[in-house]
Amino acid sequence: MITIDIATLFPEMCEAVMDTSIIGRARREGKYLLRCHNIRAYTTSHQGRVDDYTYGGGHGMVMQADPIARCLDATLQLYADAGAPRPRICFMTPAGAPYSQEKAKALAALQGLVLVCGHYEGMDQRVIDAYADEEISLGDFVLSGGELAALAVADSVLRLQPGVLKSPEGYEGESFYTGLLEYPQYTRPDVWRGMAVPPVLLSGHAANIDAWRMGMAVRRTRQRRPDLYKALPPEIASPPAKKPKKKK
Ligand code: ADE
Repeated sequence: MITIDIATLFPEMCEAVMDTSIIGRARREGKYLLRCHNIRAYTTSHQGRVDDYTYGGGHGMVMQADPIARCLDATLQLYADAGAPRPRICFMTPAGAPYSQEKAKALAALQGLVLVCGHYEGMDQRVIDAYADEEISLGDFVLSGGELAALAVADSVLRLQPGVLKSPEGYEGESFYTGLLEYPQYTRPDVWRGMAVPPVLLSGHAANIDAWRMGMAVRRTRQRRPDLYKALPPEIASPPAKKPKKKK
């Protein structure tokens, strides 16, 4: 069972998200262990200070190294006390490596993961240098804090854990897992505002449905994400053409 620790200035925000929906149910069922740690609890400042001005000048405040380091030491001690291997420590920063489903799969195979959330204008580089196994960015945009990024990473990792989704097919067919974008989905009614569900989906013919879905996934990927399309193995990118029907 995986353990995820989130080091944050806003543990209540992380708790609220992790207690919601599928991930929340799985948490209550004990499918994984999640702990949120308040970095502010580890400051030695009497005012509860966790940030300070940036050396060299510039706007905004920078999170100090020491409260984060002390929070991480306490977290690592929990693993040591449990006789568990050292967890992987990932700092959420816009300067990190872009996150992907492939990364989610790799993190999901770990026993322990610590996600560190920055705030203000960033974190003192020295604590990143001292503790980070890696830095992760959610994408080419800047959030006001690392929490939304950490929660996205935690969600994507936890839904790959055994027993979290009702059936593993839940994710095996979906966007990115296979390198393809997902095919379109429909539910009742079969005609909505004059738009009908593609007839093949009502045919009950499993092989035709699979072929249609695969074709749509490939087409969408080609149109919307040429970068992903280029990386597809040739047998998926251009499946063998159907034999033309013989004219009578
Ligand atoms: N913190 C602020 N922006 C971020 C981003 N894009 N990814 C991860 N952490 C962040």
